[in-house]
Amino acid sequence: MRLYLDTAEIDLIRKGVKLGVISGVTTNPSLVYKAGWTDYKSAVQEICSIVKGPVSVEVLGQESKSMIKEARAMAKWSEHVVIKIPACEAGLEAISALSNEGIRVNMTLCFSLNQALLGALAGAAYVSPFVGRLDDVGENGMALVADIVSCFSRYGFSTQVIAASIRHPLHCVAAAQAGAHIATVPYGVLIQMVNHPLTTVGIARFLEDAQKAAGKV
Ligand code: G3P
Repeated sequence: MRLYLDTAEIDLIRKGVKLGVISGVTTNPSLVYKAGWTDYKSAVQEICSIVKGPVSVEVLGQESKSMIKEARAMAKWSEHVVIKIPACEAGLEAISALSNEGIRVNMTLCFSLNQALLGALAGAAYVSPFVGRLDDVGENGMALVADIVSCFSRYGFSTQVIAASIRHPLHCVAAAQAGAHIATVPYGVLIQMVNHPLTTVGIARFLEDAQKAAGKV
């Protein structure tokens, strides 16, 4: 499973990329707003210059025609741009048209196996089931990820599954167990993934014993 960062905050992206474990970034209008960007294009170009991997950028159009127009313009921002299109009727038409033009699409706001199946059939390069938001309404978000992965594998679809709306490190464990190709995680969750109290205690104890052995304590 690969890891993307789910943020538009440049400092966090720089820090994550330095760790050598991040191969892409996902953004959405809420994350761009939260990061204080007013110019989406500049934000995306800056992110692309840091991560040099797929960077998902979301359209705001509500109809297929406006989604396609926006997406074509966004795709020119950088070779790394992947267009996020919501899982709705207009979105499907846009996914199909853009995929036929060779523009990579990430079907976002995906909450069902049917939506994911349609996204794959329309040619999406990625589908993003929103795990945390399904959990929020009492459904099992990770069960959906597992269902999509197994369905895509059964039918030989090349569409990759991005476990999105990840809220905590256990989601990452479950995404890996479910076979997600990618989990897109907030920076805080990335750091929670590496931290373990026994590692912290172990480092301190080794240091202490080494100092004792050297007669420094
Ligand atoms: O990747 C999708 C993500 O940005 C949504 O996360 O926590 O707002 O449901 P959340």
